[in-house]
Amino acid sequence: MKLLETVASVASIVACVTGASRPKQLVPFVYESIPLGQITPNGWLLAEMQTEADGLAGHLYDFYQYVKDAKWLGGTQEYSGLNEAFPYWLNGLVPLAYTLDDERLKGQVHDAMDYLFEHMVQPDGWIGFEEGGYRLIWARTLIFFAWTNLVDANSTYEKPVVDAMYSFNTLMNSMLKNKGTGVVPQKDGVLDDGYYFWFLSRVAEMIVSLQWLYEKHPRDGEMSKLWENMEMLHKFGYKWEDWFAESSYAFGDLYDLPERVTDDNFQFLHGVNVGEGLKAPAVIRRYTHNDSLIQTTRDGVQWSMKYHGAPSGTIYADEREDGINPYYGAETCTAVEVMFSNSYNFQALGESFYGDGSELAAFNALPGAMTGDWWAHVYMSQANQPYSKNLSTTPFYNTNSVGQTYGLEPNYPCCTVNHPQGLPKFVQAAFVKKGSNGLVHALLSPATVITDVAGGKTSVECRTNYPFDDELQYNIQTDKAFDFYVRVPTWALNSSLTSQSGSSSTLDSSTGLRKISVAAGNSSLTFSVGTQVRTEPRANDTVAVYRGQLLYALEIGVDVTSAPPKNYYNLTTYPASYAPPQAVDYTMLNTTEWNVAIDPSTIVYHPASDPRASLPTPIFAPGKPPMYMTVKACLIDWPLFMGSVPGWPIAKEQRKCLGDTFDAKLVPYGSAKLRMSELPTIDLV
Ligand SMILES: *[C@@H]1O[C@H](CO)[C@@H](O)[C@H](O)[C@H]1NC(C)=O
Ligand SMILES: *[C@@H]1O[C@H](CO)[C@@H](O)[C@H](O)[C@H]1NC(C)=O
Ligand SMILES: *[C@@H]1O[C@H](CO)[C@@H](O)[C@H](O)[C@H]1NC(C)=O
Ligand SMILES: *[C@@H]1O[C@H](CO)[C@@H](O)[C@H](O)[C@H]1NC(C)=O
Ligand SMILES: *[C@@H]1O[C@H](CO)[C@@H](O)[C@H](O)[C@H]1NC(C)=O
Ligand SMILES: *[C@@H]1O[C@H](CO)[C@@H](O)[C@H](O)[C@H]1NC(C)=O
Ligand SMILES: *[C@@H]1O[C@H](CO)[C@@H](O)[C@H](O)[C@H]1NC(C)=O
Ligand SMILES: *[C@@H]1O[C@H](CO)[C@@H](O)[C@H](O)[C@H]1NC(C)=O
Repeated sequence: MKLLETVASVASIVACVTGASRPKQLVPFVYESIPLGQITPNGWLLAEMQTEADGLAGHLYDFYQYVKDAKWLGGTQEYSGLNEAFPYWLNGLVPLAYTLDDERLKGQVHDAMDYLFEHMVQPDGWIGFEEGGYRLIWARTLIFFAWTNLVDANSTYEKPVVDAMYSFNTLMNSMLKNKGTGVVPQKDGVLDDGYYFWFLSRVAEMIVSLQWLYEKHPRDGEMSKLWENMEMLHKFGYKWEDWFAESSYAFGDLYDLPERVTDDNFQFLHGVNVGEGLKAPAVIRRYTHNDSLIQTTRDGVQWSMKYHGAPSGTIYADEREDGINPYYGAETCTAVEVMFSNSYNFQALGESFYGDGSELAAFNALPGAMTGDWWAHVYMSQANQPYSKNLSTTPFYNTNSVGQTYGLEPNYPCCTVNHPQGLPKFVQAAFVKKGSNGLVHALLSPATVITDVAGGKTSVECRTNYPFDDELQYNIQTDKAFDFYVRVPTWALNSSLTSQSGSSSTLDSSTGLRKISVAAGNSSLTFSVGTQVRTEPRANDTVAVYRGQLLYALEIGVDVTSAPPKNYYNLTTYPASYAPPQAVDYTMLNTTEWNVAIDPSTIVYHPASDPRASLPTPIFAPGKPPMYMTVKACLIDWPLFMGSVPGWPIAKEQRKCLGDTFDAKLVPYGSAKLRMSELPTIDLV
């Protein structure tokens, strides 16, 4: 904490000299983000993102009613009064288009931007089409995420976006001063309280963009209004720091708590709210300078994972958080928000485990929610999901019976429009800057950054099959000498970072970073991370099996059928002309038994025959990853929950093999669309 205070006060002295128009300082990020467009994926990650662009994400603008015919674009379609579908889409498409530098997708973004500036930026400062009492701020939050990113990537948009954000800020200031209008349900108006509730839990999302404006585009006479709006949004909104506290947090399974407790706190229990709220204390700390919020953020993330987390790195919440049973559902939107909040927290607070949280969800939860071709997604993923079909009974708190099928909009359409942001924002956060002459590989993955470091141009290309392999190769070209760092995952047994010329690195255990000095000119480095198969205990004597950042699961044989997509609203089939032929709804039935127990002491890892060879495309599809594990296993008695999905396996003392033992195969979770990943243990040797 001492160190952080020193850093903060040095920053304010510097700012007093150079930035006279800013009256107060925000706490600086520990690591500074790099503008959108300067980091690009390569290798398997590029192939995955191109698949995303060729899939649903890259075609919503052409056909999907809640985007193509959104009221934001002059149409008539919105799935709710939140008017958030188009804003979610824009928030994902800006980084997808610019990270891939894809002309087709950039064209979609630019067309939409032109329409917004011609029709949605209103003379009184409002952005959108809503009038009178229906002016809820929430969807503007997503527009601002998209806009701030676009300005960082393309300066053509700087003036119109910054002007519009300042006008909106002035209007918002008068709204908030009028009893929190735009955030708080109003008594006399015609507003639906249900819609208002969402922004109350999500005010920190808007504060992120206000802070961007404050630091990157300060304007005389506007700064105090920005600061005041941060304070008012926080004042009127729900306070995550009060929820992530020993005295209030829901430790344990929510079905065991009185309904009153869970109903009264629903705003803190809704999955996507939690995914977003994980960064709220870190956002608030930037202007309150309250360092207690460092621990609050840590608690919020660690408790969410421990008491409500799935082994794939996301949070179980089938609308509402539940606990840790493997038949609970995790919403696809939640996975992308967890990824984004963790990468934000890593930049804001600098602790390495946040980086692991982002990688874990990116390499497991997100691909596990998508079909390999990225044309279909589940609304709810289950850790143990041996079939994906119209269930006879829904085991979920509030999700329909087809919520765990892969399709266009198997339940609420929010995940159809919100899933695209996941990977591009992950790539955007892959590298960050440290001080004036440091560059950090923060989220390990095959990616290239070209940026300014230490006053010169630097290019760092990381070639790797990570997380499918343990070695990362860097080719570096730089005008100026600089310090290069690699974030060492917290599960690493050991690690090394060496240069071809023989210089070696040091590990700073307080930051979890390995550091090496890079001279001007060309160099190449190798980072290796030591890992082995590890298991983590889960409920009811089950385990989750990992190697490095990959979760492994028992893959279930699949019988796949598909049908034209259905409307989520009343589950009737859309007209044949509505969607491209690749957009279908799937039913996947098990062709193998799923009631399998394993003896973890017998796990054997089988690496790819050439761990450095190019991986198949797409990698997260059945049968694609060349590495796997085998383990001694047998079938056990395992009752269904509600007659519908695998429940808790029977108690360990009662587990008996129903037949011979056999070698079961475990594969990377994201590639197995039907799988069991919380596996009961049994002694077989
Ligand atoms: C920036 O935006 C303008 C306006 O849409 C566009 O013409 C230009 O190609 C964009 N630049 C890049 C590098 O994408
Ligand atoms: C700082 O945050 C903590 C945790 O939420 C809170 O208990 C404390 O009152 C805050 N301090 C100030 C000065 O606001
Ligand atoms: C799911 O099955 C029920 C009958 O069990 C049926 O009423 C319903 O229409 C089915 N839903 C879909 C989307 O097929
Ligand atoms: C980690 O330690 C093992 C055992 O000593 C050694 O074989 C391996 O090379 C080390 N790996 C790294 C990346 O340092
Ligand atoms: C550095 O590498 C680049 C790309 O491989 C090459 O074009 C350039 O000539 C090299 N420069 C030096 C000084 O070796
Ligand atoms: C299984 O685990 C859950 C969650 O911890 C617990 O509530 C339940 O009692 C356990 N069931 C059995 C049969 O042990
Ligand atoms: C189902 O909902 C859609 C969209 O609201 C509507 O167009 C269609 O007529 C509805 N179909 C039935 C059978 O109610
Ligand atoms: C698929 O799962 C069902 C339901 O649990 C089970 O009865 C059936 O035996 C499994 N099918 C096969 C082919 O193993």
